[in-house]
This record gives sequence, structure tokens and C-alpha cells, in this order.
Amino acid sequence: MQTQVGIIGGGPSGLCLARLLSLAGVRSVILERHDRAHVEARIRAGVLEQGMIELMRKAQVGARMDREGLLHDGIVLTFDDRVERIDLPGHTGGQRVMVYGQTELTRDLYDAVLQDANVSVVFEAQGVRPLGFLDGEPRLDYVSDGKPQTLACDFIAGCDGYHGASRAAVPRGLITEYERVYPFGWLGLLADTPPVHEELIYSNHSRGFALCSMRSHTRSRYYVQVGQGEKVEDWSDERFWDEIRRRLPERFARNMVTGPSIEKSIAPLRSFVAEPLRFGKLFLVGDAGHIVPPTGAKGLNLAASDMHYLSTALIALYREGRGDLLERYSQTALRRIWAAVRFSWWFTSLTHKFNDDAIERKIQLAEFDYLTGSAAGRTTIAENYVGLPFDASFG
Ligand code: FAD
Ligand code: PHB
Repeated sequence: MQTQVGIIGGGPSGLCLARLLSLAGVRSVILERHDRAHVEARIRAGVLEQGMIELMRKAQVGARMDREGLLHDGIVLTFDDRVERIDLPGHTGGQRVMVYGQTELTRDLYDAVLQDANVSVVFEAQGVRPLGFLDGEPRLDYVSDGKPQTLACDFIAGCDGYHGASRAAVPRGLITEYERVYPFGWLGLLADTPPVHEELIYSNHSRGFALCSMRSHTRSRYYVQVGQGEKVEDWSDERFWDEIRRRLPERFARNMVTGPSIEKSIAPLRSFVAEPLRFGKLFLVGDAGHIVPPTGAKGLNLAASDMHYLSTALIALYREGRGDLLERYSQTALRRIWAAVRFSWWFTSLTHKFNDDAIERKIQLAEFDYLTGSAAGRTTIAENYVGLPFDASFG
């Protein structure tokens, strides 16, 4: 088999990249390790920034998102019983975010990609190995239906997430990895109950962080910070509901509607960046190249700028023979990535319990007071939360 762009991974990054390329006439093949149902079922991102929203529209997959997504004008920050709302458009010249689940977005992308003549998807592709990307003859070896296969391509896009094969194939001497693993995780619960509040609540409580999010007016997504060794089996629904109520100010806790969980899982928290993001004809995109703790709702939104820059650069090459944008992909993408890594790390530090040290909590409270008491502080939170702009000079 032969194609122009070989894409490893059929998550949001791989799918959206394939669509953007296809609409400019560039062909691709996606090799995905799992089946469609498995990829669509992963409950992950919930909040989209303007950049990701616009990319979905550009990929011509935004119709359902525009109908069903919930636009949010603010977030609520709480500290024990203190409650402060951050007005997003008021501090950012009108920008908002949209609640639209990654499960829905992935479904919309698959519906389009599987009808797209310029894109083929191989599900359950096993043992994918990127080869020849440094010496100019890239190919992907893999096993499908028990048979070895080779996909020859001009370029490889590694869109296979943090545990994928693309970054792992880079010779160690060519890559630098920056990593911090946080000493806690998030236990998430999804339930068909009305959300406790119409906006997201990020809560710093002496028992630990909690987040109240949603997928719709009838479906809630909640998280509590848990210790590193915690197991999901030890958290009955009742224990979860009791804990999250204790971590919220009374006026929210008393409105909490509980119900049976549809999904419950623990996610570790990590900051990670690989540098560079280009190795000859292999490019890392999305979680394959970087991870942020989910506190700032940035992971998928960062993948969006990677997809935008890489699709723009590849299209410039195929259409106009221009290679300069491919040369600039890594450094341009990394600038926005580090800005989001910083915000996600900082917002995590402001809202989570790191230890029992009383002075740390007092300092967190002083920072909370300072930020929410100052227009500059509120602007800092709002402009980072709605997302920093893509580099407009790239193109
Ligand atoms: P992935 O979604 O990881 O997709 C990679 C794909 O590659 C998968 O389908 C996988 O099966 C496939 N794959 C892996 N290895 C191989 C291989 N060897 N061969 C072939 N295929 C392979 N982000 C936000 O922007 N907003 C949020 O509100 C938000 N909330 C989050 C909440 C939680 C609890 C978590 C865990 C994450 C959250 N994120 C959020 C982050 C977001 O989910 C990720 O950044 C996003 O999934 C990245 O997409 P991706 O396509 O790059 O990688
Ligand atoms: C979610 O709804 O899953 C979600 C929302 C905001 C975050 C992280 C996750 O910061």
C-alpha cells in the first residue's frame, strides 16, 4: 500500500488531521490499534477552545457540535466556602469556551473520515513501526488480520498518544523529554444527572481538589483528586458522591443530584514535552508529543494547534512546493505548547492539595485572594483558560 501521509493513531488528532489534509486533496491512511467503538468510548476531554471549534468547522465536521455544544461564559473557582466567578468574555474581548465531549467529537470525525475518498482507516493495526523516516524513505510496517503489511508514504504523522509507537521509534540521542509526574490523580465519574451548576466549578478544598463539569444539561462529569495508589474498585458511587459534596461550598453541595455512575476511572496527572517534534519525515502531533494535567482543559486544545500547523505546512508543500513551513512546524508548535504547559502546571498548583503543610495552604489562599481581587489576575486566568491564539504568521 502507498499514500501521501501515513498517520499512526485514529484519535482526535489523527482523524482531524486526515480531514484537513483531505479537503486540500492530500491523501492519507490512518493506522489505529483499536476498533472504532473502543476509541469513541474513551471519556476524556469536555471543554473546547475557539481554536478547536474553528478547526472542526474547517474540517466540515462542526454541524452537530454547533447544534449541541454548550457555550460557556464563565467558570467558578472556590476555596473552601469562598466562591468567585471568572467572566471569560468580559476579560478576553468576547471569547468563550464550549462544552462538547471528546466522545461526540470523535464520532463526528469518524462519520466524516469513513466517507472520505482521500482517507483510509485500518482498525486493529497491530505492532505499527515507523521506519526510514530519517533517511528519506518513510514506511509503516504493521500487522493486520494476522498478516504483515507495509504502508509506504511521503510523511508520517505520529498521532498515537502518550504511549504510542511514533515517539518510541525516535533514536534516544535525537530527542529530549521533559517530564513531571504529580503525586496524585483524578478519579472521574460520569452520570445521567443534571449538573450541579450551569458553569464548571474548580474547587480547592482542604480535603483536595474537585471539579464539577458536564456533557449536557442531563449528563454530569465530576472529578476528585485522589492519592497516587488509589484504585477505582475502592470507590463505590456512594463514596464518590459523599466525597465530592464535602469538597464543595454548601450552596453547591446541597444541590448535587446523585445517581448511578455510567463510567468511573482514574487518570494520572503529568506534564510532559518532547523536543523537537520533527525527526526527518516523522512529525509528532497531540498527546504523542506533549501531555498536560487536565486542570486547564488544554490537552485536546493543544493538539488543535499542532494539527493546524502541520496540515498547513503539508498542504503548502503539496500545493506550492514550499518546504519552509515544515521546517518551522516544531518550533512554532512548541511555543504554544510550553505556554499551555505553564498554565496547566500553575492552575494545578493553585487548586490541588500537594501535602499537609499549613503554610502552603495559606499561600494558596493568598494567591486565590490576590488573583480574584484584581482585574489583572482575573484576566490572566480568563485569557489562558479560553486559550492562547495560534501563531497567525504561520502560513
Ligand atoms: P489520543 O486521544 O491518545 O489518541 C491516540 C490514538 O492512537 C488512540 O486512538 C490509540 O488507540 C491510538 N494508538 C496508540 N498507540 C498506537 C499504536 N502503537 N498503533 C496504532 N494506534 C495507536 N483536553 C482538553 O482539551 N480539554 C479537556 O477538557 C480535557 N479533559 C481531559 C480529561 C481527562 C480525564 C483526560 C485524561 C484528558 C483530558 N484532556 C482534555 C486531554 C485530551 O483527552 C487529549 O489531549 C486528547 O485525547 C489527545 O488526542 P490525541 O489524538 O493526540 O491522542
Ligand atoms: C471534563 O469535562 O472532562 C473536563 C472539564 C474541564 C477540565 C478537565 C476535564 O479542566
